[in-house]
Amino acid sequence: EKGGYDHFMLKEIFEQPQTIFDCLRGRLDAEQGHVVLSGIQKYATQISEAHRIIIIACGTSWHAGLLAEYIIEELCRIPVEVEYASEFRYRNPIVHKGDVIMAISQSGETADTLVAIEKAKEQGAIILGIVNVVGSSIARLSHTGVYTHAGPEIGVASTKAFTAQLAVIMMIALVIGKEKGTLSHDKYLQLIRELAEVPEKVKLILQQNDSIKALAEKYKDATDALYLGRGYNFPIALEGALKLKEISYIHAEGYPAAEMKHGPIALVTETLPVVFVATKDSYHEKVISNMQEIKARKGKIIAIITEGDLVSPTLADDVVILPPADEIIAPLLSTIPMQLLAYHIGVAKGYDVDKPRNLAKSVTVE
Ligand code: M6R
Repeated sequence: EKGGYDHFMLKEIFEQPQTIFDCLRGRLDAEQGHVVLSGIQKYATQISEAHRIIIIACGTSWHAGLLAEYIIEELCRIPVEVEYASEFRYRNPIVHKGDVIMAISQSGETADTLVAIEKAKEQGAIILGIVNVVGSSIARLSHTGVYTHAGPEIGVASTKAFTAQLAVIMMIALVIGKEKGTLSHDKYLQLIRELAEVPEKVKLILQQNDSIKALAEKYKDATDALYLGRGYNFPIALEGALKLKEISYIHAEGYPAAEMKHGPIALVTETLPVVFVATKDSYHEKVISNMQEIKARKGKIIAIITEGDLVSPTLADDVVILPPADEIIAPLLSTIPMQLLAYHIGVAKGYDVDKPRNLAKSVTVE
């Protein structure tokens, strides 16, 4: 049942070329140059005319939501707020009729997310579910939605469900951006082409499994770790830190790279690994200067970079090199090495990576 892999988590990480492909299949057509999401198209007018979108989720799904904010605001020019479901449900939030609420959930059963959308629905919001489990409570409560089609996820740490959420979010932004006219036709076509190339690129990244395992051996005894990224890679830094915490019990924090100067930089010593999500994008030069700041304080830098980047390797102790991609698509790639790093560190430390202590696959109580 683990398909020859030692753990479900590793199996699910390796399934991603297929699960991302399955998620895009029948929706994204690179040859014809269009994206069809019937659940979104049905509500296309309401969504593109919405004054704002509120995204509600927990944990890893919340990280997908944070990336959605960056992508939807850029491509669709609709204001987006991202809320932790547990906060939203208890704080008497302002919801107007016609607001679009996007609920993101792998299981579709997370109690806080479910109750939060129930309340928003009563207040007249349109509920759009991005859910993996077909027919789950959140899927049933939503007015419309898009399934992530990642297949059953057994490992407690979310991996393939997260990348499928990202793929869905990117497709939604393409459909709405096109509908609204905020996304040029050229950019629309370019992003479609690039999304279609993701499964093959993920395969290439997975071929680096052995070298990432070697990195895990090198850093497994760290007591703390910092994950830094900017822009589209900031949510990925948060997700990388969460994966490490869950699986290896190493204390890890994700931060926007520039925020580290406002506090966390005090933690940097020669024993602190700092993972930079530093793929080539419009923030890259800024990220490089953040790397220099860490290096000056002797932190150990592991940088996830794009092929052809000649500067980062001069600053980093270790690099993982990814194939090039548009900055909007790149998070689908940069998240893969972080999943593998957390996995191998957890295994090297002898932990049960499929069932980390204190965690349940879905949190159905608040
Ligand atoms: O099923 P959901 O996506 O609603 O679950 C949300 C979180 O409980 C979940 O992402 C959790 O953070 C995972 N353990 C992350 O690996």
